[in-house]
Amino acid sequence: MNEVIKTIMERRSCRSFDPSRMPSEDIIRQICEAGTWAPTSRGQQNPIIIAVTNRELRDKISRMNSAIITGNKLVTSTPPGADPFYGAPCMLIVLVKESPNAIYDGSIVMQTLMLAAQSLGVNSIWIHRAKEEFESEEGKEILRQLGIEGDYIGIGHVALGYADSELPAPKPRKADYIHWAK
Ligand SMILES: Cc1cc2nc3c(=O)[nH]c(=O)nc-3n(C[C@H](O)[C@H](O)[C@H](O)COP(=O)(O)O)c2cc1C
Repeated sequence: MNEVIKTIMERRSCRSFDPSRMPSEDIIRQICEAGTWAPTSRGQQNPIIIAVTNRELRDKISRMNSAIITGNKLVTSTPPGADPFYGAPCMLIVLVKESPNAIYDGSIVMQTLMLAAQSLGVNSIWIHRAKEEFESEEGKEILRQLGIEGDYIGIGHVALGYADSELPAPKPRKADYIHWAK
């Protein structure tokens, strides 16, 4: 099968990472670089990617994310109080400047990052609630401390790392996914 299509079909969300296996800096850079090649509306390259490998910051963001789940009584795949990042040692946070196509721009970067990770043998999962995180004062302060100026909308986090167990098989695709007007 064509390698790109194989990568697309074989990518699965990972919900159990080995916290001690950090992808190498070279691998993380390659994944981020691939993300910068995602299409963006009017080619404006509005999104930014923050690669978090600092343990303290990673744990702080995990706590913020967990508090959003609890505070908003969200029904998620994460049990209450558990690490929403499933032990992943690294996360790539995608944020976008306010613009009409912000969510689309950010989302396509997210998928590009996940596919690049898959192609390099790195497991990943989209972890949500970046919007709420970076609307908060605590989130804005994280950006300031990283020297990131201006208002940004959080799109999502790509949790990255290596699975510590086999990934579940995917669901079959629904029968009426594709409609063809010939
Ligand atoms: C917009 C979006 C938000 C998601 N947020 C979460 C999340 O917060 N936690 C989680 O465990 N999975 C999250 N996921 C992963 C989906 O649950 C997962 O993609 C879906 O179950 C299909 O599985 P697959 O990725 O293995 O094909 C998210 C996926 C998308 C596209």
